[in-house]
Amino acid sequence: MSERSFQELAQDLDRLEAIADQWEAEKRGTARAIRTTVEALQAEAFRRLIRTIKDEPGGLAALKKAVEDPWVRNVLTFHGVLRPPEPTLEEKVEAALESVRPTLKSHSGNVELVRVVSSEEVHIRLIGSCDGCSFSEATVRIGIETAIQAAVPTLKVLKVVDPGVRADGLVQLGSKISASPYSKPWQDAGPVEAVTEGQVRAVELSGASVLLTKIEGTLHAYPNACTHLGMPLDGGTVADGILECPYHAFRYDLKTGECLTALEVQLPPYPVRTEAGRVMVQVTV
Ligand code: FES
Repeated sequence: MSERSFQELAQDLDRLEAIADQWEAEKRGTARAIRTTVEALQAEAFRRLIRTIKDEPGGLAALKKAVEDPWVRNVLTFHGVLRPPEPTLEEKVEAALESVRPTLKSHSGNVELVRVVSSEEVHIRLIGSCDGCSFSEATVRIGIETAIQAAVPTLKVLKVVDPGVRADGLVQLGSKISASPYSKPWQDAGPVEAVTEGQVRAVELSGASVLLTKIEGTLHAYPNACTHLGMPLDGGTVADGILECPYHAFRYDLKTGECLTALEVQLPPYPVRTEAGRVMVQVTV
């Protein structure tokens, strides 16, 4: 028996449980009750055993040595006798990335952890359709940032590195770290009067479709692309500062870009100002 790994035996258990799950309710309930009772008996026996050994001279050291063995550690952890080890920062970030991967993969994208610099700074790399598409990168980044921040609340800097940047932070020849988005030029988006209070208007700026709006007298600019499937938003309806996408009804707060339908994404706002009666926009992503 010891020739089979812990993982293989655990998989056997999962398989047996899956079989039992197909049984009719009464038999299933009986099987579960047997398992729960046996586990409770074992857990209590382990607790008593550990208490006894701990009180013996040299007992604590022996216990510490025993739990270095993964079999012992896993079984005691399973029974709740040992606390599971606190996941490392890398494990927390990896788990957060794993949680967003299904969404990214459904759009032919992925994300890779490059390195955890500290509890405040994490570097990632976007792969597939997420890489190179400035709009996708912006929206995907917000989703990833939210997931990592939930796992590591101290996170302050999430850097999306160029695909050519290596895990050790060195840059491969021909690659570079993305320039600051705020180095982008201010572009003329038309006269201020063309943007009506509570309405949306689309303008083309250097090949990017930009959504302009005015809410409570303040101008706002966003990418004219829904975070759902990237469809243009300018045909949507606006009521009380909330824009509804004309395609599948995703709703956005136009004061912040926040998506009220899928809270993990948002329209990334562009810097906007006026100059001599013109709306000036910095298309940062
Ligand atoms: S594209 Fe906007 S809700 Fe689907």
